[in-house]
Amino acid sequence: MNQFENYLKNNLPTATSFHPHYEEAMGAMLLAGGKRFRPMLLLSIVEAYEPQLVESSLRVALAIEYIHTYSLVHDDLPALDNASLRRGHPTLHTIYDERTAILVGDGLNTDAFYLLATSALRDDVKIKLIKILSANAGIKGMVLGQAIDLYFEKKELRLDEVKFLHIHKTAKLIATSIVMGAIIVGLSQKEQDSLYQFGLDLGLLFQIQDDIIDETQTTQEAGKTTNNDEDKNSFIKILGLDGSVENANDLANKLQSTFKTFEPKLQTALSLLMEKYLYRHIKG
Ligand code: IPE
Ligand code: IPE
Ligand code: MG
Ligand code: MG
Ligand code: MG
Repeated sequence: MNQFENYLKNNLPTATSFHPHYEEAMGAMLLAGGKRFRPMLLLSIVEAYEPQLVESSLRVALAIEYIHTYSLVHDDLPALDNASLRRGHPTLHTIYDERTAILVGDGLNTDAFYLLATSALRDDVKIKLIKILSANAGIKGMVLGQAIDLYFEKKELRLDEVKFLHIHKTAKLIATSIVMGAIIVGLSQKEQDSLYQFGLDLGLLFQIQDDIIDETQTTQEAGKTTNNDEDKNSFIKILGLDGSVENANDLANKLQSTFKTFEPKLQTALSLLMEKYLYRHIKG
């Protein structure tokens, strides 16, 4: 959706000061690109049910991309994954320095909630959005996943623990992006709950595929540092490459069955985004 890219370009973080590169650094990794998978999940749902709300939802979609981008900037830091390439560009701590990259993450994380609070949606909707995004990205969500990912480097976890780790570090934000769309268009709590479950499985599949990318793609192909999971509890580490592919295919089949139970207009809205995941083995 070009509309989102334009909105992002026009709403990059701004701050006027005499700092030589503060503002540029804040926006650099947002501008660098990425699949925009999470914002697109949200916007596709809004487009399907309440197209007149798409415009005011762009700010909410951007808030999610701010959170996701902050998580990548911090993930790449020397103290975390120590990666030098991200979204086809040198990582921020290599362009500037580590302190700048830490502060960019801090800034994007906080300002995501400013974007939500100042979006043109009903106040009760905004509170629900702030609540679900903070709960899933914060201490009980993505941050916990990252903490386990890093603490247990070189310490092998069981498969159920590996799933817990990946559900927290990746799947919760993906599930939340879908549910935030559902909240904006006013789907029932029951529908939100089943979309959240679907999103967790989708996010798990997303992370298995990400682990496969780390194993099978070059840094240049992936646009980010790969072969970097040696010490991690990645799916590759636990199940091997073939086992991970098999696991991903099984999960894709399960997701396909659930997807087919969705209302036709929801299926139409999400079908393009689902291609690389639910129909991964058909696409090859
Ligand atoms: C990478 O996310 C980090 C994970 C959670 C696996 P994406 O693969 O969505 O990264 P971008 O946004 O496309 O760069
Ligand atoms: C990171 O997972 C998930 C985040 C919360 C950022 P990875 O460490 O596997 O992501 P990549 O492979 O560096 O994109
Ligand atoms: Mg990581
Ligand atoms: Mg990483
Ligand atoms: Mg990875």
